[in-house]
Amino acid sequence: PEKIFPSKLILLGESSVGKSSLLLRLINRQFYNYQESTIGAAFFTHTIHLDNGAVKFEIWDTAGQERYNSLAPMYYRSAQAAIIVYDITNKDTFERAKYWVKELQINANSGIIIALAGNKLDLNTIRSVETDESRTFAHENGLIFMETSAKTCVNVTEIFKAIAEKQQNN
Ligand code: GTP
Ligand code: MG
Repeated sequence: PEKIFPSKLILLGESSVGKSSLLLRLINRQFYNYQESTIGAAFFTHTIHLDNGAVKFEIWDTAGQERYNSLAPMYYRSAQAAIIVYDITNKDTFERAKYWVKELQINANSGIIIALAGNKLDLNTIRSVETDESRTFAHENGLIFMETSAKTCVNVTEIFKAIAEKQQNN
């Protein structure tokens, strides 16, 4: 039988960047133009099958609104992986993403795998965060980096797969 490795994963990032939308695209293959803002946090599971076993992600989708920020440590403390999401059309959300990277580097498990997702790639024509800038930041901090679109389904499965592969190679 296939070996299954559980992995706790947290999604972090400013409100409205598309954390819930990425998950709904991954799990339900759907996208909503009027996705409701998350209250507190929501829990999902999703299994990625690899050649040498499967990774079962136990996912906490956190709420990005500022009033929920103090809850984040409760979710990232025991996490083995994190996806930090920003919106490529909104520079402030990239600054917020950098803040979360630092916070995890200081306070999360030392072996945590962190991925950076520049979401809303379908809005490329009105981007305000250049790919090179994010890629450089990701490289300097040892992060997996991809630009994604929950709307047009770009790099959604791929970013989870990259995390699963990195975890299995550790
Ligand atoms: P909080 O739950 O408040 O933290 O927000 P969130 O990060 O979960 O964002 P959510 O998934 O609710 O998406 C916010 C808005 O962005 C919704 O209107 C989505 O339809 C839209 N959105 C999400 N992903 C994309 C994307 O890839 N492209 C475009 N164009 N819009 C997106
Ligand atoms: Mg949400």
